[in-house]
Amino acid sequence: KPGMTIKELAETMGIRVVDALKSLIKMGEEPKTIQDELTIDIAELLVLEYGMHVKLPEGSESMKLDLRAPVVTIMGHVDHGKTTLLDYLRSTSVAAGEVGGITQSIAAFEVHRPKLGKICFIDTPGHQAFSSMRERGAKATDIIVLVIAAEDGVMPQTIEVIDHARAAQVPIIIAVNKCDLPGADPNMIYSQLMEHGVTVEPFGGDVQTVNISALRGQGIDKLEEAILLLAEMMDLRAPRDGPAEGFIIESRKDKALGPVASCVITLGALRVGDVVVAGADWGRVKVLRDAKGESVKFVGPSSVAEVVGFRSQPSAGQELFVVENDSKAESYTEKFGSRKGSMKRIQSSKQEEHQGELME
Ligand code: GTP
Ligand code: MG
Repeated sequence: KPGMTIKELAETMGIRVVDALKSLIKMGEEPKTIQDELTIDIAELLVLEYGMHVKLPEGSESMKLDLRAPVVTIMGHVDHGKTTLLDYLRSTSVAAGEVGGITQSIAAFEVHRPKLGKICFIDTPGHQAFSSMRERGAKATDIIVLVIAAEDGVMPQTIEVIDHARAAQVPIIIAVNKCDLPGADPNMIYSQLMEHGVTVEPFGGDVQTVNISALRGQGIDKLEEAILLLAEMMDLRAPRDGPAEGFIIESRKDKALGPVASCVITLGALRVGDVVVAGADWGRVKVLRDAKGESVKFVGPSSVAEVVGFRSQPSAGQELFVVENDSKAESYTEKFGSRKGSMKRIQSSKQEEHQGELME
């Protein structure tokens, strides 16, 4: 299919994204991210390669992958109440005894609702400057909750999120926030959204909306229900085992432990001892902590985890995957580094050209 990304092709072929990446690199390609679009030729080559070399284990085609919890990213214009919403969710999790250690990432955490299930939430900043972070966030997630403050309405970064979601083909749920304020008028927001092509349920469309007050904790249960309903319709599945894939949420340097990375695992299982790659950085997982901050041997899909063992600090938003050994990791990170290097060279030679022009 034209414009198919590496991830989509791998999923269609029923192979692991990591294997697709490896094959592409072997073929002399330089994939940057799993969202890179493939040309028909390359896609065909890849399929041929697998057609010839890979035999699926018996019965594997009929084997269904396990259901997994949704990974939900909270997005929206600056100050519309994203972090307040997550704080509320977190506080209810604290009350429910879910949040434990102090290592819990600021930007990502899990909620577990006894009857409903688990949701993995990720916060993003609304400030204009973080557009690329939002773009990556939109791609890495299953569902976007778009927070819109009732008194402010649809704003520039609201529209930006709508565009990112559309480009990444990720469904959104609208949370009209600050409904506790006098004069809050959700209907006005709905019509603004319709103008931007978001067909909301109250106006006969299919995009769910929930009116909330993050500050007072009103309507949040409805929001969780909407998320889980959508997740159920999406029938999200992932292998529970096998090499993990995910992405880095944030990383910091600990004086004693070295680089500590918060990440979300999207599929497979990450284990202590695994060799992980994230962009130009890699390492061997020495300590693994789950969403409660407890040290564990492995974490499964749709989970928040903290990884100690990276040799250098990976950057937020990088995709993370497991490779067989150190030398594989080195060759991946080198390739990543040299790509960056060559980009820089191109840029600087352009600058030089430009300077040359100026001097002439
Ligand atoms: P950025 O991360 O900077 O993009 O902002 P944000 O979307 O995370 O907004 P944040 O949660 O920091 O809230 C911004 C302000 O709005 C704070 O002063 C909150 O107290 C206030 N606020 C958030 N939710 C509500 C709400 O439901 N009602 C009212 N009245 N105020 C709210
Ligand atoms: Mg915030």
